[in-house]
Amino acid sequence: MAVVDEVPSPVQGSVEGGSTNVSEDPNGVGRSGTRIAPIELGRLHVQTPVVLSPMAGVTNWPFRVLCESYGPDGLYVAEMITARALVAKNPKAFRLCRFAPSERIRSLQLYGVDPAIVEQAARMVADGDMADHVDLNFGCPVPKVTRRGGGSALPWKLDLFRELIHRVVAVCEPAGIPVTAKIRVGIDLDHETYLDAGRIAQDEGCAAVTLHARTTAEYYGGHSDWSKIARLVQELDIPVFGNGDIWGAQDALEMVRETGCAGVAVGRGCQGRPWIFSDIKHAFNGDPSRMDPTLGQVCEVILRHAGLLIEFYDGDESMAVHDLRKHIAWYLKGFPVGGQTRRAFMECETLQDVRSCMDGLDLSSKLPDRLVDKPRGRVRYAKKVHLPYGWLDSRTTSHEQRESLFGDDPMDAGY
Ligand SMILES: Cc1cc2nc3c(=O)[nH]c(=O)nc-3n(C[C@H](O)[C@H](O)[C@H](O)COP(=O)(O)O)c2cc1C
Repeated sequence: MAVVDEVPSPVQGSVEGGSTNVSEDPNGVGRSGTRIAPIELGRLHVQTPVVLSPMAGVTNWPFRVLCESYGPDGLYVAEMITARALVAKNPKAFRLCRFAPSERIRSLQLYGVDPAIVEQAARMVADGDMADHVDLNFGCPVPKVTRRGGGSALPWKLDLFRELIHRVVAVCEPAGIPVTAKIRVGIDLDHETYLDAGRIAQDEGCAAVTLHARTTAEYYGGHSDWSKIARLVQELDIPVFGNGDIWGAQDALEMVRETGCAGVAVGRGCQGRPWIFSDIKHAFNGDPSRMDPTLGQVCEVILRHAGLLIEFYDGDESMAVHDLRKHIAWYLKGFPVGGQTRRAFMECETLQDVRSCMDGLDLSSKLPDRLVDKPRGRVRYAKKVHLPYGWLDSRTTSHEQRESLFGDDPMDAGY
């Protein structure tokens, strides 16, 4: 089977072919009053207000290019880059900052705890013309991040949060780079941060905020609480992207209708389904077309993805295929592929191994209706939230806390 450049074309009305409540009015005003209009982020025009939510280990440029090829006018964000690693000119961090020539908006996400370091990273991005858009990560729930006050732990400290955004905007704004912030609801339901964080982000010049409607404690479990998105939309004047549990185009429509958010950010729902961006684009235009690829078409996408990854890893096929394995598991989810074949895919070392595993698959099979647009990927529940000692005692950062936090950065070890 050859690596193909073409993506399977949409199958008219195949999956959700019913009506939507959104008209085809070019201004995007739905019959129910729902507004699905383009978004301006500074000088950037985002025609379809849908975001590929940054995912570490997933949203490198090969995956972004695939997603963008299905819905070419959204915002496709790279996986988080550790500011300290960028400042240290770590080669892996630089690899993650690469973009494909076809990417319309070069969108990077920075993560860091120390405002001075994140500012330095932002200056590198601005001075080196490395990106068109910078998103700031305040949503990561991973213990090694939150126990150092980073990710979703950070907005609890109002002074630190404000300072970090202030410094990054001060560097990016003159360069014409809009800055956005990605936040969670809070640390847990007794320690919500999203309203303060949204207001501060807006005050400090962020062009938009993305709210992942879960707390740190909720991790990726259960269903996100979209009422929090609605609440933040009421509170802010800048656009709010709603995030959490968009598994299909219908969810995107419902989130916009229920919350009034300006756009949606899709995380796990696009794993193994980059064509969800086509579905959402159609849905936002009031078009009921949805994609319903056969297993054969999915295999073509896998091979195309493999080709892009080989390029990403500078021709290192083994690294590319190792990266591809998790995607293959997602691509095949729900298709009638036996356990033995699935295991064989997970042991592939070369592109030829991947092709061999495809031999014998029933390429005409389709995803059963009951599995279309259903949750996929990680659905882990709450764990204990790890925070720096005494973190919740005050909403400002003490001198001692700053000293102990800014010494080193936990994500350094990852590179
Ligand atoms: C594997 C994985 C990696 C992620 N990495 C990041 C990241 O680097 N930066 C970030 O802001 N969010 C990250 N997230 C969170 C997603 O962007 C998104 O907010 C979350 O998955 C909720 O959206 P969903 O319900 O559509 O999946 C990650 C999520 C997953 C599953």
